Formats: sequence, C-alpha cells, structure tokens
Amino acid sequence: MKAAIVGGGFMGRVHAEAVRRLGSVEPVPVGGRDEAAFRAALANPGIKAVHICTPNAAHFPMAKAALEAGKHVLCEKPLATSPRDAKMLVELAKARKCRNCTCHNLRYYPMVQHMRRMREDGDLGEILVVQGTYSQDWLLYETDWNWRVTSTEGGPSRALADIGSHWCDMAEHVTGQRITSLCADLQTFHKTRKKPKGAVETFSRATGEYETVAVDSEDFGAVMFRLGDRARGAFTASQVSAGRKNRLSIEIYGTKSGVAWDQERPDELWIGNRNTNNQVIIKDPALLKEGARSYADLPGGHSEGYDDTFKQVFRRFYASIENPDAEPEYPEFADGLRQLVILEAELASHQRHGWVEVSR
Ligand SMILES: NC(=O)c1ccc[n+]([C@@H]2O[C@H](COP(=O)([O-])OP(=O)(O)OC[C@H]3O[C@@H](n4cnc5c(N)ncnc54)[C@H](O)[C@@H]3O)[C@@H](O)[C@H]2O)c1
Repeated sequence: MKAAIVGGGFMGRVHAEAVRRLGSVEPVPVGGRDEAAFRAALANPGIKAVHICTPNAAHFPMAKAALEAGKHVLCEKPLATSPRDAKMLVELAKARKCRNCTCHNLRYYPMVQHMRRMREDGDLGEILVVQGTYSQDWLLYETDWNWRVTSTEGGPSRALADIGSHWCDMAEHVTGQRITSLCADLQTFHKTRKKPKGAVETFSRATGEYETVAVDSEDFGAVMFRLGDRARGAFTASQVSAGRKNRLSIEIYGTKSGVAWDQERPDELWIGNRNTNNQVIIKDPALLKEGARSYADLPGGHSEGYDDTFKQVFRRFYASIENPDAEPEYPEFADGLRQLVILEAELASHQRHGWVEVSR
C-alpha cells in the first residue's frame, strides 16, 4: 500500500519514518505547497491513504479534497481551525466510508495506556482531581518565529490548540470522562514578534534580517475545568516556559490512589498511595496491564518514546484499512472535532472572563 505524506517539515519527516517502520506501507512524499503534486497524488489509485502534515489552516481543504477523492485520511492536529469545518470532515468521512484519524498520538505512550487501564480496572477509585501542564520554551523570545504565531496559518489559538489539545485529549482518554465546563485565561506576552525574512522551520532558530509583525495568538493559556459529574481540574499550556522542552505532565488523583506521568520521562509512572509507600514503576511489557501491553514493543530497560507513539497510531490505522470490519483503535476525526469544541469554549471563556459550558 502507498501513502502520500503531504508537508515535508517536522511532522512530514516523523510520519514518513514511522510509516516506513510498518514495513507494509510505502510513504510517498508530497510537498505541502505543491498543489499539482497534491492533485496528482489524489488522482493516483495506488495511493490509498493521505497524511496531512501541513500548517493548521491547510488541514481542512486538504482533508476535504482527499476524502472526496476516496482516500483514507490521517490528519495532524488540530483537525481544522473551527468546529464547523471539523464537523464537516467527520460527516464527509462517514459518507465516503473512509478511515479517518486525528493524530493525537501522545495517548499511545505505553505508560499512558497503563494509566488508562488502571482507571478502567478501578485501581484509582473515583477520580476527584486532574491537573497538569503542557509546557515548552521554543517561543520564549521575541525573535522566535513560526507559522503557528499568526492566525492566518495557525488558526485562532496557538498554545491551547497546538499543545493544550493534546493535554485535553489525554485527560479525557485516560479518565474516560468529558470536560463539561471551563474557565480560561490567555496571555500573549509578545504582542509583536520579529519575523525572519527567510524561511524558518518548526523548533529551529532564525537568523538574518527581520520584520516586526503583530501577533494574534496566545503564548500561554490557563484553564480550570469540571470533568464528568464531580471531578475538578486545571491545566496550563505554555510555549514560553524557560527550560521546559516538551513537558506534558498529567496527574490524576482518585479516591484510592493517584498517578503522575511526564512526557520528558516517558518510561516512568509515579503511583501515589495514602497508606503505603509511593512507587515509581518503569515501562516493561511483562509488567504492564494486559490492555496496555501491545503499546510497548521493546522489553523493560529499552526506552520507547515520542517517535514510537506515531508507529502505534499508524499500525492501528493501517490495520483498520486492511480489515474494513475492524473497530478503530485510534483517535478519529470525531476526537479532533471534540478538541475544537473544547477550544471554542476556551476562547469564548477568555473573551467573556467567565465560565462556559462545553457541549458534548
Ligand atoms: N502530533 C504531534 O505531536 C505534532 C507535533 C508537531 C506538529 N504537529 C502538527 O503537524 C502540522 C505540521 O507542523 P510542523 O511542525 O511539521 O510544521 P513545519 O513548519 O515543520 O512543516 C510544515 C510543512 O508544510 C509546508 N507548508 C507550509 N505552508 C503551507 C501551506 N500554506 N500549504 C501547504 N503546505 C504548507 C511547509 O513547506 C512544510 O513542509 C501542524 O498541524 C502541527 O499542529 C503535530
């Protein structure tokens, strides 16, 4: 099977490599800005699936065109820049009977799956509190630039859409509960940034000449939320936290025990107990909950990280293409839509300075 990988930046390279690791799928690189190559890929009957790894504003038109061409679509997050567009993609994928995935890959760290299975088995008890952060520092300086900074390419939100969406996806996935209402506060520390006159890639530093450009997306967001019937929580999303490179940290506290996980130390899981010693357990498929085992391919002591989460998503996505009866075991477009609904509530809450209900 062949798969077109649209967009050749940070994610385009990660997707191509993870697809190659499957062994059964051949990645076909397509430059995101090359309209003719994109159209040719859609017209090619040998290409069964399309990975969309371009800036956010290009996701909707590309995913729509790919579905209309009958391709299965795996789209990077956020699925679109509005719930309305995301909903249209959910409906189109259903109508065309195409497999569809929003790449919330971070769910698939083995220890995150272990937390999920602990919750399912009742090890945590009733969940009371969920808290954490997704913190990075790559946009700390006024001279740090990326397409995400302007709403034209990134959409109406940056920190909350780019990384906050991963945090909320994980919180809802692991707890099995939904955020029902929230109160958000956003801050854009740099009202203007220095945009390099040349091209600059994600996570790389620009040099040379600059122009000063107004910034209309947030560097930071803080969100308090209600989860399910009774649980409460809060998280921050920041791209200006010096020293934090990719720190998605999540803590879940139930009536029996608590768990805490940090993406910068992905093979470790802290388990907190009131009446016995706390533990730090290390990823080892032999010791993981049964339902989490298939997310770890290597024995204990052999680390598995960020790259491997893509392999886990893609393996399940392509298995579902090969077997049309298979239940999807990966985040679908509906999950991407869910994050845009939460995001819309966050932006409305910030505007209104108050709590906002999140529709289910
Ligand atoms: N799942 C994850 O963990 C994760 C991590 C990083 C980025 N992402 C997502 O992946 C997508 C791409 O991000 P990235 O960090 O790879 O960006 P990038 O800037 O590194 O790469 C973007 C690519 O798209 C091309 N492109 C630029 N403008 C375009 C346009 N208008 N139309 C079509 N193509 C265009 C560029 O030439 C480049 O090849 C984003 O939606 C981002 O949110 C997801």
